[in-house]
Amino acid sequence: MKIQSIRGVKDILPDEIWKWQHIESVAHNIFPRYGFKEIRLPIFENTQLFSRSIGEATDIVEKEMYTFNDRGGDSITLRPEGTASVVRAYVEHKMYNPPAVLKMFYIGPMFRYERPQAGRLRQFNQIGVEAMGSPSPIVDVEVMTMLMEFFRELDLDNIKLSINSLGSHECRPRYREILQAAIATHLDQLCANCKERHQRNPLRVFDCKTEQCSKIAAGFPKLIDHLDAASANHFSEVRALLDATSTPYSVDPKLVRGLDYYNRTAFEVTAKNLGAQNAICGGGRYDTLVAELDGPPTPCFGFALGLERLVSLTPFRDTKNFQKHPDVFVICLGEKTKTIGFQIAHELRLKGFRVERDYETGSMKSQMRKANKTQSQFCLIIGDDEIRSGKFVLKNMATGEQTECPAEKLASEILSHRHRE
Ligand code: HAM
Repeated sequence: MKIQSIRGVKDILPDEIWKWQHIESVAHNIFPRYGFKEIRLPIFENTQLFSRSIGEATDIVEKEMYTFNDRGGDSITLRPEGTASVVRAYVEHKMYNPPAVLKMFYIGPMFRYERPQAGRLRQFNQIGVEAMGSPSPIVDVEVMTMLMEFFRELDLDNIKLSINSLGSHECRPRYREILQAAIATHLDQLCANCKERHQRNPLRVFDCKTEQCSKIAAGFPKLIDHLDAASANHFSEVRALLDATSTPYSVDPKLVRGLDYYNRTAFEVTAKNLGAQNAICGGGRYDTLVAELDGPPTPCFGFALGLERLVSLTPFRDTKNFQKHPDVFVICLGEKTKTIGFQIAHELRLKGFRVERDYETGSMKSQMRKANKTQSQFCLIIGDDEIRSGKFVLKNMATGEQTECPAEKLASEILSHRHRE
């Protein structure tokens, strides 16, 4: 039987990789402007790291983790997200005293056993950033504006930034009781999931997608109206700074996140034309997680965005500049041209050009067809006549223009044509 890839897992094929590379290069370009450096983290960790940080009562930990015992009997989990690993690395390597806030970003696959559907995979890729070491609302807004700048650079429109405050670990237990009391009065009307959440994770009722539950939840008291003074103050500073940078946003009191480590600012970016799985990015402040994982108290802020969703949304308007087609396709006509064709291709590659060729010596027509298919910018024709005269025909595939050129001038000729376009 033919072996196929696993459900909810996708190959990223060579013809589409340029999209990924372009998005990643924009991240590599923009994030360092704000002081972020890349960190590369392992794909699997001790299971406890995720259950302790993401929260035992979350969907991720309860139902979605890929957990297995390795041959030594240790419980291992394929990472469902990156924040826990960043914090683990921060504590393990005692990265405690950076000159300023420690800022890191990561790019890579995450694993969640969810029901696959459009935009929802079991192995998906994230770009995430974490800023560690400051409680200042300036950090929250700097990171969110960096994200919006990143989206602007990718020409993304029809996106929406929603923010909320999840308060502090002091005001949340009080609010939890108020919310549980409100839920109790409607318990018989709520879906089975929400009934269950009532005791274990009541805030998640705001996340329920069933129409009946979201209608009822709209009437429940909101956390944003029960914030402690310091959290309320933090939130109004965040709003003032977003206004100061003219960043459009809306406050969504129903925005709760699916991971337990957040406090104060939480945010999401959604796209209007993504269908049901419309969150491209989510994040927020997590001031107590480092201490919970045995590091010193370190307030943090971060986000992660879903690359598959972002790739499908990005318009890639200037595709000509992003796709790496060959510069030259070398066409060799006849046995005698083999060596010289090989040498010329080799030398052009050493000079930095992308060179493709046909490895069979087929007819001019069939090789030209292949040159067209590869979308090469030029083709270089090497036949017996060309060897005799020492001049080769360089054809611009877009204009049809042909130039005769000796081997030593090929590179400058290609460049001069390139510059004219
Ligand atoms: P998250 O909201 O769980 O946050 O995931 C962030 C993004 O990953 C989502 O907005 C979505 O675009 C993408 N994503 C999540 N699950 C899937 C899936 N099954 N298939 C495709 N894409 C998916 C976090 O992971 C936090 N660690 C973010 C964070 C960083 N908070 C602070 N720092």
